[in-house]
Amino acid sequence: MSDTLLALSGVSKSFGGLKVIDDVSFTIPRGSRSAIIGPNGAGKSTLFNLISGAFPTDRGSITLDGIELTGMPARHRARHGLTRNFQNIRLMPTLSTFDNMLLGQHARAAGLAELLRPVRSPRARNIWRDEVREELDLAGLGAYVDSRVEGLPYGIRKKLEIVRALLARPKLLLLDEPCAGLNTAERDQILPFLRSLERRGITLMIVEHDMQLIADLCDHVIVLNFGVKIAEGAPDCVRADPQVITAYLGAEDQ
Ligand SMILES: Nc1ncnc2c1ncn2[C@@H]1O[C@H](COP(=O)(O)OP(=O)(O)O)[C@@H](O)[C@H]1O
Ligand SMILES: [Mg+2]
Repeated sequence: MSDTLLALSGVSKSFGGLKVIDDVSFTIPRGSRSAIIGPNGAGKSTLFNLISGAFPTDRGSITLDGIELTGMPARHRARHGLTRNFQNIRLMPTLSTFDNMLLGQHARAAGLAELLRPVRSPRARNIWRDEVREELDLAGLGAYVDSRVEGLPYGIRKKLEIVRALLARPKLLLLDEPCAGLNTAERDQILPFLRSLERRGITLMIVEHDMQLIADLCDHVIVLNFGVKIAEGAPDCVRADPQVITAYLGAEDQ
């Protein structure tokens, strides 16, 4: 088995006339934790959309475990072990935690009508109950299994999205700003949880702005600016890179 889990080579994407991802190449080693950083609008979420298959690429190759993903529908990519969250919470607010986790199980393969069926089926509920409960316990959220999601604090809901993604048993987990909007206490709580993914052999790519959190969590950072990869390396090296500093200062001037 190769050490490389994900490889991008010459990936580009335009929306209208605007090149949003411009000839981006990098590799992600198996078991690593990488951060994608860059000013707002740099193309970070778009990059995740291209990897997960939400949008097609215009050019270039994306492989997972040596398998070419380009042209493969998102749900097939999920079957190959690729799971993502979204920048905005996408839990169903009126359903319980457990039902939301069940929906996550089936979201990859089914349409919406199909999607709601397993939530109602007693058989599916029994099959998944232990697995969901165990995953919630690992995240310290077992107490919320029957709570309605809309009543839960924002920090808990952000964490539940990660638990739901984990139930898909990913090899590669893409988390787009999972810590956005969290207060310091909530961030301190989520960090050990994210670090625990390493022990489970899950490779993590995360979009995050807090350089301290990145330094505590990640071994590798990729920097995008206007869709171009301008730097890549260990958190400390990237933070000191003059091009990176200029990109961020430029963003602050706007
Ligand atoms: N579906 C889309 N259609 C048109 N433009 C888009 C779309 N998604 C993103 N963009 C544009 O691509 C650029 C990068 O956006 P995004 O990837 O969301 O940046 P980031 O996540 O780094 O803040 C922005 O200029 C944004 O307006
Ligand atoms: Mg974004």
